[in-house]
Amino acid sequence: MKLSVFSAKSYDRTYLDEVLSTTFPTLCEIEYHTFALSAETAPLASTSTAVSVFVNDTLDNTVLHALHATGVRAILLRCAGFNHVDLVTAEKLGLFVANVPAYSPEAVAEFAVTLVQTLNRKTHRAYTRVREGNFNIEGLLGTTLHGKTVGIVGVGRIGLATARIFHGFGCRLLAYDPFAGGEFEQYGSMVELDTLLAESNIVSLHCPLTEGTRHLINEGTLARMKPGAMLVNTSRGGLIDSTAVIEALKTRHLGGLALDVYEAEGELFYNDHSGEIIDDDVLMRLMTFPNVLICGHQGFFTSEALTEIAGVTLSNLSDFAGGKSCANSLVTEGHVLVRRDTAPVRL
Ligand code: NAI
Repeated sequence: MKLSVFSAKSYDRTYLDEVLSTTFPTLCEIEYHTFALSAETAPLASTSTAVSVFVNDTLDNTVLHALHATGVRAILLRCAGFNHVDLVTAEKLGLFVANVPAYSPEAVAEFAVTLVQTLNRKTHRAYTRVREGNFNIEGLLGTTLHGKTVGIVGVGRIGLATARIFHGFGCRLLAYDPFAGGEFEQYGSMVELDTLLAESNIVSLHCPLTEGTRHLINEGTLARMKPGAMLVNTSRGGLIDSTAVIEALKTRHLGGLALDVYEAEGELFYNDHSGEIIDDDVLMRLMTFPNVLICGHQGFFTSEALTEIAGVTLSNLSDFAGGKSCANSLVTEGHVLVRRDTAPVRL
């Protein structure tokens, strides 16, 4: 069987080749493509039974039909989020789709806290100052996190891991999650979104991107945030209306913004555009604010997570190849994703 891996970076190749040779030596032959899967590149999978993709590949109706027509029968996501996959079409075509649900919740949670503390304590600015021999600390004033209120939107795996870390800092914790079990309550209180927004010094987003959560942070919800609060998004860019966020930064109502994800990241992230003119005026405006920190979707990027991603991706393929039931397959019933590790998700 042949597996076409799209959006393949050197690290994907390293970790997948390692797991293939040590754990699944007879499973498949891998063909790596450095570019993303799209309507234009889908024909390159024509000799493959399975394709593997990451967060910014296109898996819409057109691409899924094109893949199916060439004989592809399995889609292996090397990520947890599946908002970029048309699961309704996949179900109609009988395509096997599986993700890697939890490659390292702690890696993403630790990164969210890293962003908060970088922006809060301005270590990114201190680093460049000190390297130039400038030891002046004016302008680097932060706040002590101990005793501050942190609001976590979505207390699944990553949200809970984030709660554990902020709890360790001595923060007061609030969470909003309409589908949560009771696990968060050992760290803080479950509240309505408006209460969380009104009382939190830091709001950290950890819910999935669905039609119901798109632009969850918009002009109205930003206005309900505590003045001067910090917003952190390590989940999916589409949760935030970037234009509304720019306005809230300009009025000084929003005190800080830390992003690992951006709603139009697909055109830019994971590639070097440093020698080019970037046409995205919204992203460029965001980058002009001194209280905005943007990273290129690297929350997951630890060696432990890459090992897990490669292992689970090939294990999912092995389940598909062996006709076994796969715990990570994304099965839909009447436009609702039903899986035992998550609450039902309406597509
Ligand atoms: P999860 O499925 O364990 O948890 C998501 C939680 O969000 C669930 O508890 C769910 O009930 C809740 N939720 C659903 N709709 C909601 C709503 N309207 N409001 C508030 N909460 C809602 O997912 P996990 O593993 O914690 O991942 C969260 C997100 O993090 C993923 O969807 C993915 O987009 C993102 N992610 C980002 C990475 C990065 O590198 N920056 C890496 C991995 C995931």
